[in-house]
Amino acid sequence: MRLLVCGGAGFIGSNFVRGRLATSDDEIVVLDKLTYAGRRENLQDLDGDARFSFVHGAIEDPAAVAGALEGAQAVVNFAAETHVDRSIIEPDAFVRTHALGTYVLLEAARERGLRFLQISTDEVYGSIEEGSFSESSPLDPSSPYSATKAGADLLVSSYHRTFGSETLICRGSNNYGPYQYPEKLIPLMILNALAGDRLPVYGDGLNVRNWLFVEDFAGAIGHVLDRGEAGQVYNVGGPDECPNIAVVRRILELCGRDESLIEYVGDRPGHDRRYSLGSAKMAGLGWSAAMGFDLGLGRTVQWYRDNAWWWEPIRGGAYRDYYRRQYGHSLDAPPA
Ligand code: NAD
Ligand code: TYD
Repeated sequence: MRLLVCGGAGFIGSNFVRGRLATSDDEIVVLDKLTYAGRRENLQDLDGDARFSFVHGAIEDPAAVAGALEGAQAVVNFAAETHVDRSIIEPDAFVRTHALGTYVLLEAARERGLRFLQISTDEVYGSIEEGSFSESSPLDPSSPYSATKAGADLLVSSYHRTFGSETLICRGSNNYGPYQYPEKLIPLMILNALAGDRLPVYGDGLNVRNWLFVEDFAGAIGHVLDRGEAGQVYNVGGPDECPNIAVVRRILELCGRDESLIEYVGDRPGHDRRYSLGSAKMAGLGWSAAMGFDLGLGRTVQWYRDNAWWWEPIRGGAYRDYYRRQYGHSLDAPPA
């Protein structure tokens, strides 16, 4: 099969492409706009593979999409703006990429009769105090990020109902692992801990996330692509949940630092308290998560220790401006 993978230069997309090339005969074309979060470095080890190619372009550009789609049998769409805090500062790109971009891809897939898999998130369901969301739970998003992702999901479903398009949606819980941009909790805390910077914990630190190792999510996406039923949604939850403060304490331990680096800061507006996804439907497709959180977190810390070539240019570049804007002080400022 020849696949178009949109947003394949990001964190999850690049892990998916690497895994898929290693475990199938597929040819993969990546279409990516290379925003601050999308990096050619994430795919550079695949450049010698004749089954892999890269196209620089945006999903909201119909000409770029048409060119990249030549010969493809299916589309997997990872392309998105993905950070909740940035969606609070500047929602504009979230609306454009999630609404317009998804629409352009859906149209292109419909014209060509292609299978279309949208990668989505548990955040579209909103917060849940107890129990877990299922695929039939109502959508109740809290942030501009999750609201625009929910909008994209509804558009995808409408193409199945209205036009009979062969669409699928895969909603994952919080991912972690190699190649994650350090604006997200786990890589941010790892890099700050390694550098001896403060670790900013929002609110009381008791918000809970359902952690899923990125290679497990990538495998689940392959399952849905190969075996999923058109028109269906599939939830992919991680095996473990954990309050943020416990994640941060474990990272400090793994990095050999003490808890004096923890700094409680103001809460995120609209901060969802807890996410939890049931994965019974994925179990029905023969998938289950292989990586427990503690082992996966240890592997992730080791990857960041071993791959300073990957994160040093990020931490030394425009990320510093984002950090100052978001946290009110520069990365290496001494404790207030
Ligand atoms: P990421 O921010 O690391 O990567 C996003 C990629 O999309 C980047 O390569 C970026 O350049 C590209 N992109 C952005 N706008 C684009 C556009 N208009 N056209 C083409 N490319 C564009 O994100 P990620 O964490 O890898 O997330 C990938 C997908 O998985 C997203 O749809 C996200 O909503 C979903 N998801 C993420 C998580 C998570 O924990 N990170 C969990 C569940 C679902
Ligand atoms: P994040 O990685 O942004 O993922 P999401 O909000 O999409 O779940 O945040 C995970 C959790 O960590 C969330 O409860 C917010 C919290 N958090 C902090 O406490 N401090 C931080 O600096 C960041 C980025 C997140």
